[in-house]
Amino acid sequence: MNIDEKLGLIFGRRSIRAYTSAEVSQDILQKLLEAAMAAPSAAAKDPWRFVVIRNRQTLDRIAAALPNGQMIAGAGAGIAVCGELEAAHDRQLSYLLQDCSAAIENMLLCAHILGLGACWLGVHPREQRINSLREILSLPASIVPVSCLAIGYPAETKEPRTRFKPEHVHLERW
Ligand SMILES: Cc1cc2nc3c(=O)[nH]c(=O)nc-3n(C[C@H](O)[C@H](O)[C@H](O)COP(=O)(O)O)c2cc1C
Repeated sequence: MNIDEKLGLIFGRRSIRAYTSAEVSQDILQKLLEAAMAAPSAAAKDPWRFVVIRNRQTLDRIAAALPNGQMIAGAGAGIAVCGELEAAHDRQLSYLLQDCSAAIENMLLCAHILGLGACWLGVHPREQRINSLREILSLPASIVPVSCLAIGYPAETKEPRTRFKPEHVHLERW
């Protein structure tokens, strides 16, 4: 692989919201979770926790609970990314969210590398979505749901891209 092909794995990751009916194997899910837990984490506290969801009824319920998450009903699997506040660096919610976000991006990149499509479905900080996920997934009170990932084999293709804007970059000082 040359450098452009390697970087293409970053630029080629896009939010994929349509999936075929092909099953997402346990092996694939394991790889995604290993990629997630390879992410950077403040003081290596690893406060992330994951709920892997393949049950169709549960995926349907999540789709109904997330206003912009209908596509998870058609996904081969979902992963709810949560954090345990007590485990986070200095027990700070901000560290929990940053660590979980790094894990999410690692999973999105891993899915793309493995030929799957995935999409980040926002949960935190929307109170109603948090409460719905708590109920649907029986989350303990100490667990903060951050997002859900919809994962499946892509039924749509998207062009690689960057949204690079030079005006968002400052050199040496603002
Ligand atoms: C915090 C966060 C929440 C998001 N929530 C949703 C969502 O609820 N539904 C959805 O379809 N996409 C969601 N996305 C995906 C963004 O819409 C997507 O990343 C953005 O449009 C850029 O497109 P790309 O991922 O193809 O580069 C979310 C992304 C982030 C970072």
